[in-house]
Amino acid sequence: MLSFFTENLTADFIHYSAYECGFAPCTDCRACRKSEGCALNDMDAFFADFETADGIIIASPVYNMSFPSPLKAIIDRMQRYYSARFFLDKRPPVAKRRPVAMLLSAGSPDENGDFSAMQLRKIFTVTNCELLCRVTLNNTDNIDSIHAVQEELLREAGKFAASVNLITNPSQYF
Ligand SMILES: Cc1cc2nc3c(=O)[nH]c(=O)nc-3n(C[C@H](O)[C@H](O)[C@H](O)COP(=O)(O)O)c2cc1C
Repeated sequence: MLSFFTENLTADFIHYSAYECGFAPCTDCRACRKSEGCALNDMDAFFADFETADGIIIASPVYNMSFPSPLKAIIDRMQRYYSARFFLDKRPPVAKRRPVAMLLSAGSPDENGDFSAMQLRKIFTVTNCELLCRVTLNNTDNIDSIHAVQEELLREAGKFAASVNLITNPSQYF
């Protein structure tokens, strides 16, 4: 899904594999409440790319209605932005507004990605992101091809590409 989606975009991509990066989980040490940033430095490059990208694509299987734990660890590490907003009064914690595309695969024929979208929305309110595009390929125990969602992927890729140029109001979420 990710390959097909990105093939239909003209852009440079920086790819982070949550499993390969193995970023540490948040421990709620609360250092980010006292000064901006994270006490750990393993995600410094990631955060810089995350803040300055023109758009973000999250591609993931659904595990127990959620993201696999290495990706969930990255989501939890966004706590630094929550602290920046609500303890350090930084508005907005990330200056640039970015659209996000969420591409999911799921074994269940009934999985629609709503729970994952809700989880992302929590961090997106403090990171100036907008969940603009969603595609869920479900029933993967029986379907072994992206054929069923190809049209949807094409349409969402078009929407995503257009939004990167259209976003002009960085304060809309604050
Ligand atoms: C640990 C684990 C938990 C899973 N939990 C769910 C789930 O809650 N809902 C679901 O629809 N599929 C679930 N699945 C199935 C995966 O979503 C599915 O195997 C995956 O999307 C296949 O895509 P892939 O070939 O790209 O890995 C789970 C799979 C594993 C290994």
